[in-house]
Amino acid sequence: MSDLSMMGGEADPVALAHPQPMFKLLRDAGAAIDMGEDVGMVIVGGDADVRYVLQHPETFSSGIDAVAIGQVRPLIPLQIDPPHHRNYRKLLDPIFAPKQIALLEDQTRTLVRTMVRAVADQGGCNFHTSVAEPLPTTVFLQLLGLPVSRAPEFVKLKDGIIRPPVATTEERVAYTNKIGQQIYAVLQEAIDARQEERSDDFISRFLDAEVDGQRLTTNEVLDIGYLFFLAGLDTVTASLDCMLAFLAQHDDHRRALVEDPSLIPHAIEEMLRWESPVQGVVRVTTEATELAGCPIAKGKIVTLMLGSANTDERVWPEVDTIDFDRLENRHIAFGGGAHRCLGSHLARMELRVTLEEWHHAIPEYRVKQGVQLEYSQGLRAVENLELEW
Ligand code: HEM
Repeated sequence: MSDLSMMGGEADPVALAHPQPMFKLLRDAGAAIDMGEDVGMVIVGGDADVRYVLQHPETFSSGIDAVAIGQVRPLIPLQIDPPHHRNYRKLLDPIFAPKQIALLEDQTRTLVRTMVRAVADQGGCNFHTSVAEPLPTTVFLQLLGLPVSRAPEFVKLKDGIIRPPVATTEERVAYTNKIGQQIYAVLQEAIDARQEERSDDFISRFLDAEVDGQRLTTNEVLDIGYLFFLAGLDTVTASLDCMLAFLAQHDDHRRALVEDPSLIPHAIEEMLRWESPVQGVVRVTTEATELAGCPIAKGKIVTLMLGSANTDERVWPEVDTIDFDRLENRHIAFGGGAHRCLGSHLARMELRVTLEEWHHAIPEYRVKQGVQLEYSQGLRAVENLELEW
């Protein structure tokens, strides 16, 4: 149990960098592991069980009680359960459809090229600060309609919610509530400006959009913007960190991509499976229930370990082989069920363009000698990703 107990508290840096063995311990321990009163949650790690929970929102709700991240109302669409959730996705899905995302590829490529060129002759860089953080941040702030010039301030706010510098749960709640108010204020400012004059950005589109024949209220636009602020800024950064860290340490895999860039989309899926940059998602039970014979009380927080499901030897052939030619790759790194990631096409485009441009300019690189990579908990960013070439 001691190996699993780290999941609720301070984690071992080796397990954060290589969580797969710990996931196996978790799966072997049972379908639903109650972490006890101190941690206050149940953890589920098997592929079939995780998928079952994702498909049963009537018992495993994604409502506001599932996770507190400084919000004062449910985040839209993440904390709205079906069937109402469907109305918001009907509005949002077309904005994030592959055709719309394809229109952003050229400008994203130009952005990546500028970032890569800035470091290519330097013989080394911190990949996290040079590319992984600024790229998705710039893309997303432009899309949402927030000033890119204020990116450092927004990144600090986002980090304040995702990685608050606190020790206790009480401190976390107080800190994230304070930061949450600042995020609402930033979004309100942008909404007020767009009320005056529309622009070609998401906030303007949300203001004109209708759900069930009715315009979205200002609060609804705020609640979508708040979720986007967190979902759009950090997830691609963490994924890029995980992928470059992996490729810097696996020469054969990296060289395969350099020799044949058409492998990159497959490599992205396989690294999403293996690394699962978003390690877990959270639900709360609406009634007493059970999972594969394990009882779960009403009102329990249930954490679904996506990374564990993606490395479950019961469903994945050659589970521990990172195979860029894997024929079938039905990983759930983007979640599953009604709340499956809205931004997956945008994320995949950003990841592909970055891997293409980086490896074209810098085909050989490694982790700087003496650096011990540090993966953050939950969302797996690697802030000290120092590379040299
Ligand atoms: C590689 C990058 C990304 C990964 C790994 C990722 C992962 C996920 C996961 C696991 C979920 C499910 C959450 C749950 O079920 O509780 C999710 C939902 C979501 N993601 Fe992403 N995400 C990524 C990029 C993005 C981007 C760029 C956006 C930008 C809009 C985004 C927006 C969302 C939204 C809005 C939801 C909630 C969908 C709903 O509730 O219907 N994601 N994402």
